[in-house]
Amino acid sequence: MLTCLRRSAQKVNSFGRRTISSRRLVYENFGDPAKAILLQQYDLPKKLENKSVHVKWLGTPINPADINQIQGVYPIKPPMPAVGGSEGYGQIEAIGTEVRSLKVGDHVIPAKSGLGTWCSDAYLSELDVFKIDASLPSTSKATLQVNPPTAYRMLTDFVVLKEGDTIIQNGANSAVGQAVVQICRARGIKSVNIVRKRETPDAQKKLEEHMKSLGADLVITEEQLIKEYRGKFNPSLALNCVGGRSALLLAMALDHNGVMVTYGGMSKQPLSIPTGPLIFKDIKLCGFWMSRWYENKDNVKERVMMYEQLGEWIKTGKFHPPQLVARKLEEHQLALEKAQTDHSCKQFFVPND
Ligand SMILES: NC(=O)c1ccc[n+]([C@@H]2O[C@H](COP(=O)([O-])OP(=O)(O)OC[C@H]3O[C@@H](n4cnc5c(N)ncnc54)[C@H](OP(=O)(O)O)[C@@H]3O)[C@@H](O)[C@H]2O)c1
Repeated sequence: MLTCLRRSAQKVNSFGRRTISSRRLVYENFGDPAKAILLQQYDLPKKLENKSVHVKWLGTPINPADINQIQGVYPIKPPMPAVGGSEGYGQIEAIGTEVRSLKVGDHVIPAKSGLGTWCSDAYLSELDVFKIDASLPSTSKATLQVNPPTAYRMLTDFVVLKEGDTIIQNGANSAVGQAVVQICRARGIKSVNIVRKRETPDAQKKLEEHMKSLGADLVITEEQLIKEYRGKFNPSLALNCVGGRSALLLAMALDHNGVMVTYGGMSKQPLSIPTGPLIFKDIKLCGFWMSRWYENKDNVKERVMMYEQLGEWIKTGKFHPPQLVARKLEEHQLALEKAQTDHSCKQFFVPND
């Protein structure tokens, strides 16, 4: 049943106990996200379990993976009905009697993917959330878990990059791509950035200026890469989130022993790989999935260090989140439509507004 409330609220039930009424964006079947998602009101359990925490979600973005998950084409297939959303930040409102790692007022992000963050309030195991620096700006906290770490890991774990080295990426104006550009700048690495051609020269110039303001060294279209820049740089790392022919062009640009990391497939086309460079340049093809990296318990220490480094770059103005458009949960249909058609900014829910 679909009901709407203006915000989460506490009420007294017939036994005289306080129940917390919350709201969540749920889907019961896979399908078109704008149609499949419903806003639902629900009551949290009467009792907070001993090892659980009450999280009030404050900012929860819509990422391509959330769209794919609702469409049923993502590897994570939650039991139905499912709450949408995998990323976001929230505040701890209450803790169970046996919770030791968190306290009321702490700010947290999901510890793993597929948590269902598009809701105002949730009771979660303390292990499901990860404490972060509460003093970071709220837009940075809301987008800390997925894209910046994906960029960070891809620039760290596949090739040893030193100052002055060059990387190349497609989908460069995506949120991950913008994070790549900024981390490259902070580390003194040069970035060659492939973007899709805009409809007008003005729009192209605006996009280029924006990317350069983040630290991009070169912003070009695929056409320019082929016609003007062939063989002009020898990147040891290529980051591919598009696939199809775009992946072919990246792989062809790689230096000897270069590595192409595929982390997305926005074109929905299978990768095209050039035979020559694979044989004669010994290039390597890898995939990366941030969710899997988070699943590995051995990475917890490294995760803390990574967030510290990202936090330092955020606080010193070297790293900015993508442009975000805040939406109330009630605006879910519009937000989900925009998330699929307008990639110039990211839609994000403010579930407690
Ligand atoms: N593997 C991982 O762990 C991981 C982590 C995070 C993200 N990802 C993946 O990375 C990709 C980008 O995510 P995001 O959140 O950064 O995206 P985003 O901010 O929503 O941006 C989407 C990007 O994809 C481009 N794009 C859309 N459709 C395209 C098409 N048909 N052909 C070529 N380019 C197209 C857009 O270019 P225009 O501006 O020209 O439309 C834009 O640059 C997604 O595939 C996502 O699932 C993977």
